[in-house]
Amino acid sequence: MKFDFDRLLDRRNTGSLKWDKYKSRDVIPIWVADMDFQSPPAILEALHKRVEHGIFGYAVPPDELVEIVVCRLEAKYRWKIQPSWIVWLPGLVPALNVACRAFGNDGDEVLTFTPVYPPFLSAPGLSGKKLKAIPLRREGDFFTFDVERFESEISPRSKLLLLCSPHNPVGRRYNRQEIENVTEICLRHNIVICSDEIHCDLILDGEEHVPTATLSDEVAANTITLMSPSKTFNLPGLNCAFAVIPNENLRRSFVRNRKEVVPGTNVLGYTACLTAYRDCEDWRIELIDYLRGNRDIVLKFVNEEIPRLSMDDVQATYLAWIDAGGLEVPDPALFFERAGVGLSDGRHFQAEGYVRLSFGCPQKNLLDALDRMKRAVTGLESSA
Ligand SMILES: Cc1ncc(COP(=O)(O)O)c(C=O)c1O
Repeated sequence: MKFDFDRLLDRRNTGSLKWDKYKSRDVIPIWVADMDFQSPPAILEALHKRVEHGIFGYAVPPDELVEIVVCRLEAKYRWKIQPSWIVWLPGLVPALNVACRAFGNDGDEVLTFTPVYPPFLSAPGLSGKKLKAIPLRREGDFFTFDVERFESEISPRSKLLLLCSPHNPVGRRYNRQEIENVTEICLRHNIVICSDEIHCDLILDGEEHVPTATLSDEVAANTITLMSPSKTFNLPGLNCAFAVIPNENLRRSFVRNRKEVVPGTNVLGYTACLTAYRDCEDWRIELIDYLRGNRDIVLKFVNEEIPRLSMDDVQATYLAWIDAGGLEVPDPALFFERAGVGLSDGRHFQAEGYVRLSFGCPQKNLLDALDRMKRAVTGLESSA
């Protein structure tokens, strides 16, 4: 191993959303999708160099970055895009909201599959649209799209699908057939697809991520793809993301709705993004290896060591989606928080009885958190 993912860095008093939530409390924060690893050394070096320049004016994306995004999408997915299709953004959450504003009129419907990352649930309402949540269904040991239900919920007012692929929080890497089942319905009903692929470089099961837009030219012309180096290289605070929008009409609507509301990216974000994509593949490969180790630990521990909890395998992301319904406590997230473990509350994802654990952290923190969870559940059992 060239990089040290076991290194424990103190993030307290560094203005960290994740760690400040439990300031001066003995709670291990293992909730938000923000890893406790330093970004790759090459990124730190590039940022130092850029800071030394000392001028932080309005930024445009460097030509080299645009070229790298184009080449990378072709190399990874055989997806040939034009530079003009790229729209730079400070994040995916603003992009989800811009998409909701851009397509349809007031009162039209935006569909999404639940449980899902909370901004998918709030963005439609913030733009005067109506959310239609379609629960994922169980198939064997995994969640998948309920395509029959999806199609049956579509009305003439359905204009947009917010798709999460890979899926936060359920950890699914959807295969080509699953995605095709959904895109085929969207094409038939003229529903624009906004495909959030922020976790696409975090595939843990050794299979390939399939970008929605690569299914066919028709699907590409109907899809806004959202990507970013932020989850993979641990840069979410640097605000660099992009959309790929091949269809000029969709792109025009998207850009118009973003104008003068959503800021551009900054020089540090562009610098980090360029370096991540150009120089940090070796780091990413080691990260995936480390995350697989953490995934195996969580999966085994939750399913075999902690009574009443269960989870599915995690094919992608560094998020474990834990079914805590068996605890029969009114608020599992609060129950674990009181036991010193800060998890995400499943209710925010529209799933009662679940908690989400982010295993993008040194193994020691993960094991400490799991140990506390086990003791809390065992204590509950012995007091019953
Ligand atoms: C599916 C998904 N989309 C978007 C985001 C956040 O995107 P951003 O920080 O670029 O706004 C996250 C963060 O966890 C996520 O999981």
